[in-house]
Amino acid sequence: MSKIRASITGVGGYVPDYILTNKELESIVETNDEWILTRTGIKERRILKGEGLGTSHIAIHAVKQLLEKTNTKPEEVDLLICCTTTPDYVFPATGNLLCDMAGLKNAFSYDLNAACSGFLYGLMTGSQFIETGKYKKVIVVGGDKMSSIINYQDRATCIIFGDGAGAIMLEPTHEELGIMDGILHTDGAGAQFLFQKSGGSRSPATIETVTNREHFASQEGSTVFKFAVTNMANVAKEIMEKNNLTAEDIAYLAPHQANKRIIDATAERMGVGSEKVLVNIERYGNTTNGTIPLLLWDYEKKFKKGDNIVMAAFGGGFTWGAIYLKWAYNS
Ligand code: UT7
Repeated sequence: MSKIRASITGVGGYVPDYILTNKELESIVETNDEWILTRTGIKERRILKGEGLGTSHIAIHAVKQLLEKTNTKPEEVDLLICCTTTPDYVFPATGNLLCDMAGLKNAFSYDLNAACSGFLYGLMTGSQFIETGKYKKVIVVGGDKMSSIINYQDRATCIIFGDGAGAIMLEPTHEELGIMDGILHTDGAGAQFLFQKSGGSRSPATIETVTNREHFASQEGSTVFKFAVTNMANVAKEIMEKNNLTAEDIAYLAPHQANKRIIDATAERMGVGSEKVLVNIERYGNTTNGTIPLLLWDYEKKFKKGDNIVMAAFGGGFTWGAIYLKWAYNS
């Protein structure tokens, strides 16, 4: 009996309607369209407006679309992994809320927080459940309402992030398709360079933490940039070498969308031409856990069965990694 592999059998996605342009940001902080575009590649990002709406409000659209596109009855789903850094609540898990909202009565669920590498961590984790043979349908959803933790007085962070979510279905296959390999890394020594200082158990909310704006994402941009450029490129190259993949073998690179310059450096290290590099950062900015599934959602129609796709990410924590997969269907 051949090995059971976990293959992606469908993609759903959603971004909120409101478009926050570079032009509008010019009226909020001291910045300009030219700086943002040349330093990051971002033109606009989506923002979820409305009171009382959390990440689940974005992610549920992606999950429902995924169920519809894959003709899946909600009760057939075994597990939902919600990769997010902006959960609706500290507890319970946003995954639980999504199961309830989508009617996934027979699924268990949990949240996974690996910041911008979260979707890759979720994909690796979800695929293990399939590969054991015990589970048949696993949803991995990656999404964030980054606008809920962004300080719109800090020009170094508010220009980068946006809101959005994507979801994929994992199912077993005996063909040579699906998740072929993955490499994940963590280095907690990098925590201080990109984090939310307060709101956790180390520094619970007080009037002072709120006044000092410590419940927003804080980033030492140039330090994170240096680590991101090196580690994302290295891990992408490492997964190619480990699997004997040349640049010609790779159909697409699906990189985390944090900064176009980091994406270009990764592609260059891999020797992959720009025509193979999937990019949508100009429209959505950095949606953290949402970037890679939103790329799959945007570009799904281009993919052919058997295409080799390499995904790579770097994020707060620090976390980073790469996944090599063979696309499992023609859209
Ligand atoms: O996704 C998770 C991981 N995150 C990342 O991978 C993000 C990594 N970091 C970055 O993408 C970049 O570091 C940023 C886009 C955040 C910043 O770009 P940078 O080229 O590293 O700029 P910098 O922080 O070194 O700042 C250069 C200058 C500074 O001015 P001075 O000190 O040289 O006078 C900043 O104050 O640019 C200034 N600056 C801005 N100017 C106009 C910073 N932000 C802005 C802005 N508009 N929005």
